[in-house]
Amino acid sequence: MIPDKVPKEDVFLGSGDWRKDAHVPSFEAYKELYLKSIEHPDEFWGDVAKDFFWKSKHTGRVLDYNFDVTKGEIFIKCMEGASTNICYNVLDHNVHHRKLGDKVAFYWEGNEPGDQLTVTYRDLLLRVCRFANVLKAQGVKKGDRVSIYMPMVVELVVAMLACVRIGAVHSIVFAGFSAESLCERILDSQCSLLITADGFYRGDKLINLKLIADDALQKCRDKGFPLQRCIMLKHLSKEVDQDQTPMGSQSPPAKRPCPDLQVPWNPDVDLCWHSLVDGASDECEPVWCDSEDPLFILYTSGSTGKPKGVLHTLSGYMLYTATTFKLVFDYQPADVYWCTADIGWITGHSYITYGPLANGATSVLFEGLPTYPDVSRMWEIVDKYQVSKFYTAPTAIRLLMKYGAEPVHKFKRDSLKVLGTVGEPINPEAWQWYYTVVGEKRCPIVDTFWQTETGGHVMTPLPAATPMKPGSATFPFFGVVPAILNESGEELEGPSEGYLVFKQPWPGVMRTLYGNHQRFETTYFKKFPGYYVTGDGCRRDEDGYYWITGRIDDMLNVSGHLLSTAEVESALVEHEAVVEAAVVGRPHPVKGESLYCFVTLCDGIKYNRTLEAQLKQQVREKIGAIATPDYIQNAPGLPKTRSGKIMRRVLRKIAHGERDLGDVSTLADSSVIEQLFQSRCCTAE
Ligand code: PRX
Repeated sequence: MIPDKVPKEDVFLGSGDWRKDAHVPSFEAYKELYLKSIEHPDEFWGDVAKDFFWKSKHTGRVLDYNFDVTKGEIFIKCMEGASTNICYNVLDHNVHHRKLGDKVAFYWEGNEPGDQLTVTYRDLLLRVCRFANVLKAQGVKKGDRVSIYMPMVVELVVAMLACVRIGAVHSIVFAGFSAESLCERILDSQCSLLITADGFYRGDKLINLKLIADDALQKCRDKGFPLQRCIMLKHLSKEVDQDQTPMGSQSPPAKRPCPDLQVPWNPDVDLCWHSLVDGASDECEPVWCDSEDPLFILYTSGSTGKPKGVLHTLSGYMLYTATTFKLVFDYQPADVYWCTADIGWITGHSYITYGPLANGATSVLFEGLPTYPDVSRMWEIVDKYQVSKFYTAPTAIRLLMKYGAEPVHKFKRDSLKVLGTVGEPINPEAWQWYYTVVGEKRCPIVDTFWQTETGGHVMTPLPAATPMKPGSATFPFFGVVPAILNESGEELEGPSEGYLVFKQPWPGVMRTLYGNHQRFETTYFKKFPGYYVTGDGCRRDEDGYYWITGRIDDMLNVSGHLLSTAEVESALVEHEAVVEAAVVGRPHPVKGESLYCFVTLCDGIKYNRTLEAQLKQQVREKIGAIATPDYIQNAPGLPKTRSGKIMRRVLRKIAHGERDLGDVSTLADSSVIEQLFQSRCCTAE
């Protein structure tokens, strides 16, 4: 499956002395280790486990599983019977055993240039212990779920690790999601406490986060789930001259005045982070948990419209994120690493918090935007902290590409060694720009394919080992066995295209969907028994390289974020003027895909700008700003089969403006097609 030889021409390698000392220094070394990882997974992951602290040893196999629904329930277990604590491993173990207490864990860089904070491993441990004691005092126990709805501040990492320290399960909701989405996630996971902040700035825009959180809590109450506790961090509203000890539990106050900040306060429910932490003890014994105890829930879009609560467990996730971080970025102790994702997504969980901290790495934690206050901000930060490993998304690269090379060239970037991308297929043009303009043909690009469900990278180059082809995620990571299937479920050999599946588990794969193991099996394991189905299409070329071609289910990828068409459709039809809606993706030069919505209105209702604005607002309120439609088209009729199924394939062509519709013989009424072409939206606002 891994080719014996990789091509020497038409591939890119990058350069630099560091390569000879890399963890995996050649393609030969990769192949050898890869074979060991799939033929002797227990030995491979057992060796990795030696770097961690185990309160008691595992009693079962290192990796035990059933991946075939026809043979019974799907399960995956790693290091069963062992007890450990991830928080202990990423903090106490680093401070006390590896002597990294004085090493910087995070350089926090705020939205405003000049807002900054340096946090060492020792500081972080102290803050986490204090906050873990706060959670305990609020009655949070092992196994309880805690919702976290926060901006990109150090306290977000503190909150998640404090949960983990006491065996509680965090459920982080991205701070761009709406009150409705937060409420839905709180209800699904039956959380006992919410942690939020007063507000934050995204560039110029003030987000009144507490206001949204309160709205979500009211919605929970209306649905019969009154959450008793909400801890709020004062991020913007704290006083500027507040006394701050070096170990202070707060990030510095934002330097920008915020007169429009609204901080409603309900004394029955709300608690102030700072007051609680002030009196808390600095010591907190970790709760030792079983390897397969739940670690966190993270919601991701599902094709039925209801988000899926992906559940990850302790040991496997720890081993996998630590190993992928170390090998995919070729992490070395002197590195300064920066991942620009938000912790609210899986990339931030695995590659801002757990993977880097497990390796004792120094990271940049950035609150702001790549374009604020100007489009050089990223490169300014790279120089400021001498970032050596940099990880971002194709959508950010395409956005910055629009401004040309000059804003990049204003800064030196000579500290950079490895560049990474994640979230969607990267188009070769963006890849070339990243490689040439940002990395000056020196830095390999690791195009990492993975999912919320996979926990960590599954298909990726290794920077010193894998010759790169622009746009290809190249080969599998250790322990991962990909295959390409055709519609009948047959494995295709050689150059081919079809469904991307995995044949056996790796330690970091999710264990279930929270509270719904049946949906877990149906979504990922039923279509092709014996395989984990990613939902992505994939092509393998004549050299054996894998190329992800994008989603092949009803999911859209907007700026690297998955959205389900059903979820947007149901938000639209909740408007009283709409009887039916169908949503498809349309290619977008920066976002990758944009949302193109067709709506059929109730009899007698006229489509106009006001209604269009209301519909966009409706989607923002139901899901969040990331789901705002770019195009809404009035569709008096939708193309349907005789059995009434909407032909999305045809709608996609209309949205793209492509007249070649393929076979439309199953259409019930073909006259709607011309009508829809006539009234197509050509430009987004
Ligand atoms: O379609 C693939 C795309 O993002 C999906 C996973 O989305 P999510 O669970 O939100 O996680 C995103 C961050 C890991 C995948 O099914 N995707 C992610 N990375 C790549 C990608 N598509 C192509 N190339 C990638 N490098």
